[in-house]
Amino acid sequence: MFVESYDGSCPSQVCVLWLPSAGIMMNLIRYSSMTSIKKIMFGLVLLSLLSIWFLSYNMMTPLRGDHDRDLHLKLPPSQALGGSEGHPARRRQGKHSPAADQDDLHLIPAALIITERSDSVFAYNLTSALEANHIDFTSVQIKERHWPRLEHKRTGKFSIIIFQSIHSYVSLDPYLLNTIHEYCRKYNVGILAFAVVREDDNGYTRQVGEFPVYMDQRLSLKDLTINPSASDVLHITKAGQFINGTIPYNDWTVFRTDHESYKPLVQAKTLSQDSLQLRSPSEVLHTTVLMDQGHFDGIQRIFIGNNFRFWLHYILFLDSVSFLSQGLLQKSLDRYIQVDIDDIFVGMKGVRMTVQDVEALLLEQQVLADKIPGFTFKLGFSGKFFKRGNEEEKAGDEALVMHADKFAWFPHMWNHAQPHMFSNQSQLVADMRKNFRFAKSHKIPVEDSYAVAPHHSGVYPAYPMLYNAWKQVWGIKVTSTEEYPALRPARKRQGFIYKDIMVLPRQTCGLFTHTIIMKQYPGGRERLDSSIYGGELFQTIVNNPINVYMTHMTNYGSDRLALYTFDNVVNFVQKWTNLKLKAESPLDLAIKYFDMFPEEQDPVWTNPCYDKRHLEILPEKHNCNRLPSFLVIGPQKTGTTALYTFLSLHPNIMSNLPSQETFEEVQFFSNSKNYYKGLEWYLNFFPQVDNTSTDLLFEKSATYFDNVYAPRRMHWLLPKAKLIAILIDPAKRAHSWYQHERAHGNPASLNHTFYEILTSGPEAPRPVTLLRSRCLDPGKYIQHLQRWLQYYPPNQLMVLDGDLLRADPVVAMVKIQTFLPINAFIDFTDKIVYDDKKGFYCLALRKGRTRCLGKSKGRSYPPMDAQMEIYLRHFYQGFNVQLLAYLSSIDQPIPAWLNEALTES
Ligand code: A3P
Repeated sequence: MFVESYDGSCPSQVCVLWLPSAGIMMNLIRYSSMTSIKKIMFGLVLLSLLSIWFLSYNMMTPLRGDHDRDLHLKLPPSQALGGSEGHPARRRQGKHSPAADQDDLHLIPAALIITERSDSVFAYNLTSALEANHIDFTSVQIKERHWPRLEHKRTGKFSIIIFQSIHSYVSLDPYLLNTIHEYCRKYNVGILAFAVVREDDNGYTRQVGEFPVYMDQRLSLKDLTINPSASDVLHITKAGQFINGTIPYNDWTVFRTDHESYKPLVQAKTLSQDSLQLRSPSEVLHTTVLMDQGHFDGIQRIFIGNNFRFWLHYILFLDSVSFLSQGLLQKSLDRYIQVDIDDIFVGMKGVRMTVQDVEALLLEQQVLADKIPGFTFKLGFSGKFFKRGNEEEKAGDEALVMHADKFAWFPHMWNHAQPHMFSNQSQLVADMRKNFRFAKSHKIPVEDSYAVAPHHSGVYPAYPMLYNAWKQVWGIKVTSTEEYPALRPARKRQGFIYKDIMVLPRQTCGLFTHTIIMKQYPGGRERLDSSIYGGELFQTIVNNPINVYMTHMTNYGSDRLALYTFDNVVNFVQKWTNLKLKAESPLDLAIKYFDMFPEEQDPVWTNPCYDKRHLEILPEKHNCNRLPSFLVIGPQKTGTTALYTFLSLHPNIMSNLPSQETFEEVQFFSNSKNYYKGLEWYLNFFPQVDNTSTDLLFEKSATYFDNVYAPRRMHWLLPKAKLIAILIDPAKRAHSWYQHERAHGNPASLNHTFYEILTSGPEAPRPVTLLRSRCLDPGKYIQHLQRWLQYYPPNQLMVLDGDLLRADPVVAMVKIQTFLPINAFIDFTDKIVYDDKKGFYCLALRKGRTRCLGKSKGRSYPPMDAQMEIYLRHFYQGFNVQLLAYLSSIDQPIPAWLNEALTES
């Protein structure tokens, strides 16, 4: 009635709406005339609905990483942060005083990173460090035209602003700089910037923007001291420590200032020739990390005179983030350490443990326990290999068993076989039982409810039989793996819970079965030392609140590399940091882990075909050519069965086999019970396709569309899949569902009219409210589409007009084939024909006969009466308005029914 077109023409009665997310001005709604107050009212309602949608869409909390729609937003002056209503500059009262308590302002714990070039190594390291520490961030390039919005209502979206380079900070566009500074003052948010040496920097003194600070670059340093009076700023880093001698790298920046606002956090001396250049005696201390306490202009800042390559800067960076964010991005100092020694009896003669090795192990365990209360090594055993070494090593095995009660033990398989090689559960159970009996007969205490599988086999990719057998034989509650969701990058490893077993992520410490003696350590001792003394291993402990390390028996014999490693890294951590090293049982660790990261509990199955290591531990019958390349995702009652049937007519398109359990549909991603049956279960629904074939496999489950879990799960497994969603008028869909339920004898639908169901309130009996929500919720299309497009790019989604599919399926099939795309394009004209009796298109058989869908598809029932139509029009109006705008913004065609539904409103 009111909305005629959205064709961009703009006569006098046009209502113009600003849709910044698409970055375009759209003439969305044109009123044919303004003859009644009702129309004006409608226009206003529509305008507010769109505004609400715009706000909710564009003000979403930033996601971790730079995949953030806010980045598309320009920062127009009208949305200036704080702007004229900003508060006068405030000084921070004390350490980490939350702005949220003041003046009803709120701050989201997230960082905004402003990079010079997002593809630089430093920018990558910066974002990786935040990811490794579970810190949410949004990253924007300095040259980006569209900057993220900094605040929404009275909530600041970033609790720290990080500039990759001081240079780009101080030379920022004055309007943006002012905007950021106002924001920082308003929310007490600090700024962190690094002095990255640029190629055109000549090393001479230069002023840092308009601040009373000067910096000298390209210097070499020695004798570094961490300011003993900086403990109010430093959290992880121990104040007052010093390093004597040369500091690596020769591109250091030092800062000079006389202003009382500035305080050195780290100082060092320059090497002699640089002292000459600076005309300062060599004993003078220069500041390499400088803090602006905010007395200058009301903003706290930290300038760091280099990047991350020097290990100390890594923890100083984390401390700076924690301090400048008012502690919102601060992590606990507790670090739990578990060291597993896998395969304590498995190894070749000559590299196994002797009695002396066992004694050394016990001694070091005591040393570590003094520093990490409660620490014991966890020994994993496969009984079959007990005493398989030479005479000395046999005695070593006996010594291990003699001291069994001094260690914690966990089971492997009896013969160290990989669980995924067992084709049935009883064999797996039998193998585990042998190990169980071995533990009993040798009085090995296995009390931790913890087990580890050889080579991660069966843990991930998850092999349900392993989990079942573990529970049956050992009552296992916790395991660990490095493989979820993938070995690399290590910072992205996560935990999950499957079949009530908590799977902890494991960290790597650089020790493997082949790292037996120092001389042969890849990269030599220097490499191992650099990992221990501030490098990878040290940073792993810094990053991870819970550290489960896998080592191997061979690391404890010969050179005892593992003892060297852990002894030194623990000393190093304790010397340089305030971290509190702790130990707990695996069960307590797992409970702590999932308390900290509850969002990781639900597992996702990734595509093993993309990961060589996962492929190696897959059951033989797994086949990479059995995954669908496109899916019809629903929603229900939109013609999904018709489309499924028509697609199956194509000689090069193959559907999933029907499921007996779930009404023919597989419903893998939407039904947790099915999902947790595992990948193998899903694959069995698909025929095997030849490696060289261009045939496409597809699956149709109409329950996916409105399911909250489906997009994320599907994206993990099938990130490249194309998706088809069929949309019909949601009012008709709701009515069709009601009729479907009547046909299936649902008492709520039989005892209540459609109108009664629709108008029932929350106090109505559960079956009634449930039916109401199943009628109405899937039709809130905008909400569901937005969820899918959080995971999939718009070009992988096709929104198919369900009316077109019903009225002209031949044309619909042309559109679909183009979208997929399919090599062998076929014309469906002779394959799908209209059947007068059914009143729908059906499959054409020979001699003019047809085969139509069953009675349950295309039912005849009385049409909705006017009252219900009005109710539903009104109910869906807001959703439909948003849908229209959203589909336009992602370049999807607008279904005719959507225009009509809005016109009729
Ligand atoms: P009704 O039975 O209410 O008319 P789904 O398969 O997703 O459950 O959708 C069922 C709906 O598909 C039917 O709802 C019907 O309107 C629609 N449909 C579209 N094309 C059809 C066809 N060729 N044959 C039967 N039903 C079709």
